Amino acid sequence: MDIKTFLILGGYGNAGRVLAQLLLQETNVRLVLAGRNLEKAKAAADQFNNLFEGNRVTGVFADASDLGNLRQTFKGIDFVVVASSTAKYTKEIARTALEAGCDYIDIHFGPKIYATLYSLVEAIKNADRCFITGGGFHPGLPAALIRHAGQYFDSMEKAIVGGVMNINFKEYEFSESTKIEFVEEVIDFLPFIYKNGEWRKINIMSTKDYVAMDFGSEFGKRQCAPMFFEELREIPLIFPTLNQTGFYIAGFNWFTDYFVFPFIFISLKLFSKILIKPMSQLMQWSLSTFSKPPYGLVVKLEAIGEKNGKLKNIEIQLSHKDGYYFTAIPVVACLLQYLDGSIRKPGLWLQANIVEPNRFMQDMKRMGIDVKVQDKNGNGR
Ligand SMILES: NC(=O)c1ccc[n+]([C@@H]2O[C@H](COP(=O)([O-])OP(=O)(O)OC[C@H]3O[C@@H](n4cnc5c(N)ncnc54)[C@H](OP(=O)(O)O)[C@@H]3O)[C@@H](O)[C@H]2O)c1
Repeated sequence: MDIKTFLILGGYGNAGRVLAQLLLQETNVRLVLAGRNLEKAKAAADQFNNLFEGNRVTGVFADASDLGNLRQTFKGIDFVVVASSTAKYTKEIARTALEAGCDYIDIHFGPKIYATLYSLVEAIKNADRCFITGGGFHPGLPAALIRHAGQYFDSMEKAIVGGVMNINFKEYEFSESTKIEFVEEVIDFLPFIYKNGEWRKINIMSTKDYVAMDFGSEFGKRQCAPMFFEELREIPLIFPTLNQTGFYIAGFNWFTDYFVFPFIFISLKLFSKILIKPMSQLMQWSLSTFSKPPYGLVVKLEAIGEKNGKLKNIEIQLSHKDGYYFTAIPVVACLLQYLDGSIRKPGLWLQANIVEPNRFMQDMKRMGIDVKVQDKNGNGR
């Protein structure tokens, strides 16, 4: 069988390492772990070669800001996994992947990424390449959960997804570029919801369109603010009976939500270039200092509609204690479908919308995500 070589850009970072571990565990691919620190890349490769048979991993230097280096690095690679905080080099990475004949997935967040990749969509199709963006859990899960829930209904009227994310930031070391990218993404979010037949931007200064969602015994009932992901755009087209959909996110902690976030938001809207570094440090300090246990991540769907003429009310809750497993497991579940050829097709796709949702859910559960489906009119399972 043809054994593929996957390059993970950011392969020794927090997300990259878990992706590497799961890809080695779940597939037969060879891995190249890449980043700007050759020692770290080689040390991570050695660790994985000690843990997994077959000497399948190598570590190399790669710098996404250097086009010549990217071209060299992508030679002989079948598939590029972007797990690096390199959002601003998305076009260069994608173009180089196209030139080198690689397929592609990223775990980027921001709305600008999709627009950047979409500008290359004709080139991607012409090159017969499969590019997947929006991998991970947010984005990456919300639209997949709604598509999965659709099978429980004859007609779905409301399908909203909420997320709570409480990470012990003290436990992790991040690259400087990751801290900066995180703040850029947090202030760049699009507050859109779908109601009564249209996508509508809400006023983030008012809590009128926030929703309260119950995330269970550990996280309880939380107020959640709308956050649009590209993957949701086509949901009302797939389910035309929907009159409410969207993704909603709970806050981080009281200090970050009420003081740090508004301060950063206004500061960066005014002087983004000068203040980005100090603001990223402030955010990091605030998250590390004020985030308290219980730690963990939950993504929860609430859907209401009709089945066989009766009211139906379904809740599906996915959770994991570790944010990086919660990120990497959906990506690997998607790549399992890509690797067996069942979803590979030329074009630009979103992880949440290209996956076959039933197998996606089963594979995520097998890899350690806790999945609870509750039929509120019947039994939980
Ligand atoms: N979709 C989701 O659900 C989700 C969840 C979590 C994280 N993420 C995203 O995943 C990315 C990584 O997050 P993380 O927490 O794993 O960060 P991290 O631990 O700091 O890792 C970032 C990695 O990127 C590498 N890198 C940074 N700049 C680079 C460059 N110019 N060229 C090559 N490599 C570079 C870093 O290595 P060097 O600095 O040594 O080069 C490091 O290996 C971020 O973009 C984050 O937004 C997405």
